[in-house]
Amino acid sequence: MARWNYVIRNAKLSGGEGVDIAIQDGHIAAMAPHLSEVGQEEIDADGQLVTVPLVDAHIHLDTTLTVPGRTSNRSGTLLEGIQRWGEIKSDITVQDVKKRAKEAILWEIAQGTLQIRTHVDICDERFTALYALRELKEEMASVVDLQLVAFPQEGVLCYPHGKELLETALHEGADIVGGIPHYEWTREDGIRELEYVFELAHREGRLIDVHCDETDDPDSRFVETMARLTKIHGWEGRVSASHTTAMHSYNPAYGFKLRRILREAGVSVIVNPLTNVLLQGRFDDFPKRRGMAPIKELDALEIPVALGFDCIMDPWYPLGTGNLLQAAWMALHLGHMSGAEEMNRVFRMATINGRRVFHPGQPSDLALQGPADLVIWDACSPIEALRLLPVPRTVMRQGKIIAQSQAAHRQVYYDDRTVTVDFKPQGHNGV
Ligand code: FE2
Repeated sequence: MARWNYVIRNAKLSGGEGVDIAIQDGHIAAMAPHLSEVGQEEIDADGQLVTVPLVDAHIHLDTTLTVPGRTSNRSGTLLEGIQRWGEIKSDITVQDVKKRAKEAILWEIAQGTLQIRTHVDICDERFTALYALRELKEEMASVVDLQLVAFPQEGVLCYPHGKELLETALHEGADIVGGIPHYEWTREDGIRELEYVFELAHREGRLIDVHCDETDDPDSRFVETMARLTKIHGWEGRVSASHTTAMHSYNPAYGFKLRRILREAGVSVIVNPLTNVLLQGRFDDFPKRRGMAPIKELDALEIPVALGFDCIMDPWYPLGTGNLLQAAWMALHLGHMSGAEEMNRVFRMATINGRRVFHPGQPSDLALQGPADLVIWDACSPIEALRLLPVPRTVMRQGKIIAQSQAAHRQVYYDDRTVTVDFKPQGHNGV
């Protein structure tokens, strides 16, 4: 008689160990090289990689799927993106935001992402996007964890009633306090904004995730202020600095100091390599800067680096499907993280590190008695997953299959034969 709800046979963990995984009542009930008892349903993983789901630690679901059609960005710059979004945001409705965001979330689920932290523009007295995403968070809770960041897109001090909007947003459904200090008119105002963000988060008991230093200006140094305020408020492990692209322009001595204090303050860094490689360096001639914080150097100090897709088809990024592995692939390239162990570290950024940022202090990897949230990849190792960018075979949440895909079937007609191509070298184990 079957003991378990499911048994996944012949799976491979990210370290290469072969396992069977038993699932019961939404949890991982057993994990061992060979489980003798059977499941009501048996899934043959066929030697493929099984991991926790991907985490999209930074996206803007309110602006998603507005390009083309609703607006466009002629220059392709970050500042024109803010301008174009500002022109259309007064026209959005709750139903409209929900429809677009839901479509993007389903794309992400199909590609193995089950935790999504979305920034929500709260520089809008109607809170249209916030109310839409608050509803969607509830409606889609069985398939995805959404976190909502109150994001002051047009500033806090330089926007009318910015402080009140930020605080009210927390009482209207936002989970996390956001900010944008480099967008304030002066450095002093940027610091005042951060002081307010930290005071508010401390008072309300919230996590912090600030758009910080998303510029090429090497004099934009608000991340150091975030580290200091994290220590002052005792908020270690609860603070994320997002984008942080100015780090790519700091001199080596300052970069070294900054990484040291980030580590000591327990601040994580969330990078968005796809959008920022496109948006940064726009004032450069040649060479053009890369637009990504130095993830290799941050990771070497065990500073948690997580990844975001940031934008899908919106005024800042007209492309994208929400496949977080594409962001990891780009991070690997821009970060020069092509050493064998480094590639495994990049895969961790897309999974384990994202979970640490999302739910600090909770288990971040597959574990006995932990939730059966997992992905069976069409790849046998993290490195092969980063090479092939596959769509997952199976996505499971709390012990239920919520997405399945089949690998594309590709044939080449050659020499009077039909040859099937899957980009997996024969006799090669993918590691
Ligand atoms: Fe962003």
